Amino acid sequence: MKHLFVILGIAFAVACTPKATPAATDAIIPTSENVSKDAEVINAGSVIFNNQCTKCHKPKDEAVASKTFEELRPILASMVKKARLNSEEVDQVTAYVNAHAKK
Ligand code: HEC
Repeated sequence: MKHLFVILGIAFAVACTPKATPAATDAIIPTSENVSKDAEVINAGSVIFNNQCTKCHKPKDEAVASKTFEELRPILASMVKKARLNSEEVDQVTAYVNAHAKK
């Protein structure tokens, strides 16, 4: 019985961790070189950030503004999965986060 709780605990910790591994991040989230800087893409990302990224928490404007894009990429890799975004939406919300990250 004790083992079951340990296993459930590990499963919970993995499912709810706000950060992805570096390899997983690179597979999902554009890098600082290839993230879009196009205003239309950033605007589309803003809509996603304020609508689809708010199912579990309020818009994370402060967390985004207080971290660099490199610090935010592994968090985003985990979050876009939670929000079930498609690859176009991932590029858009990443563009928005890059535009608002700490410089
Ligand atoms: C299925 C629920 C869920 C969805 C959908 C979701 N998040 Fe999160 N998010 C969490 C949880 C849980 C945490 C960790 C607790 C907290 O900070 O609220 C978190 C934390 C964060 C953090 C702060 C991490 C830190 O270390 O400070 C950011 C930034 C964030 N989310 C952005 C996003 C973005 C952007 C999206 C949309 C792509 C998104 N979230 C969608 C559940 C979710």
